[in-house]
Amino acid sequence: MIGVEGKCGKIVLFLSALLVVFAGILHHLENSETPAASLRRRMAHDMHALEEGYRQKNRSCFVLGASGETGRELLRELVRRRIFAKITLIGRRRLELEDGAQHSVVQEVVDFEKLDDYAAAFQGHDVGYCCLGTTKAKAGTEGFIRVDHDYVLKSAQLAKAGGCSHFNLESSQGADKTSGFLYLQVKGQVEADIEGLGFERYSIFRPAVLMVDRQESRPAEWVIRKFLSPISFFFPTALSIPIKFVARAMVVNTLIEKGEKVEILENKEIYNLGKNVEK
Ligand SMILES: NC(=O)c1ccc[n+]([C@@H]2O[C@H](COP(=O)([O-])OP(=O)(O)OC[C@H]3O[C@@H](n4cnc5c(N)ncnc54)[C@H](OP(=O)(O)O)[C@@H]3O)[C@@H](O)[C@H]2O)c1
Repeated sequence: MIGVEGKCGKIVLFLSALLVVFAGILHHLENSETPAASLRRRMAHDMHALEEGYRQKNRSCFVLGASGETGRELLRELVRRRIFAKITLIGRRRLELEDGAQHSVVQEVVDFEKLDDYAAAFQGHDVGYCCLGTTKAKAGTEGFIRVDHDYVLKSAQLAKAGGCSHFNLESSQGADKTSGFLYLQVKGQVEADIEGLGFERYSIFRPAVLMVDRQESRPAEWVIRKFLSPISFFFPTALSIPIKFVARAMVVNTLIEKGEKVEILENKEIYNLGKNVEK
């Protein structure tokens, strides 16, 4: 009897220690900030002036994946802030645009399997945003690699050839081309391959789990989001992020030009940029 109680006590002790370590890691992630992140956060304070200054440059942009959850939010931000003279959506289907978007938004429908035939769609944009992606569950392993790596890289190549100077990639927390996990490996590989193209400016966003009421049914993601909801209350930047913050951070970061050629924004920085900026 004593033996069983002793074992239970040890298990409880072990689990408590594990919980403390886990909370400690989350606490550390919450409270650390790189100098680059701190600079961006401070610069983002004067949004009005940043927007006005950028508007004067009369730039144009394209968005890949505007029909998806992040892309839709990003498009809303871009239309609302009016920082680009022209916004082109490049996708596999035509979208119903929300009110207010019709004037500044152009749509190019392309076949991603024959992107070379649509090089013209990628020409003449200063800035590109890529929120393209699928899942292994939806597309299978090959389909996932095709979309998240091949389509994304080919689009970046065509954009570079078409004169794009600033490419923004929505990647993922943990992206690493040496990872043993296919998802993280593919994300890391495409990040690296695009870096090799040598854009004047290349911004990589690595959000954690996107908190959003997804239109598409993805049961596994739904379970993860439900599990993360209480954790994100105490540790809002460690493992998840509201999708609005990602979209807002992508736009705000565009306005903050500080001469960095390649920049990687991890989840916490994305969160802080997206949260602290004027709506
Ligand atoms: N889910 C997460 O929690 C999470 C976390 C971190 C990073 N990310 C990454 O962030 C990015 C955006 O995620 P999201 O959830 O906002 O995306 P999403 O809602 O799944 O939308 C994906 C976009 O990619 C397009 N797309 C998918 N398959 C395609 C295909 N075969 N051909 C052409 N276009 C295709 C979709 O177009 P259609 O509308 O025409 O299908 C849509 O515009 C992805 O790269 C994802 O891996 C996701």
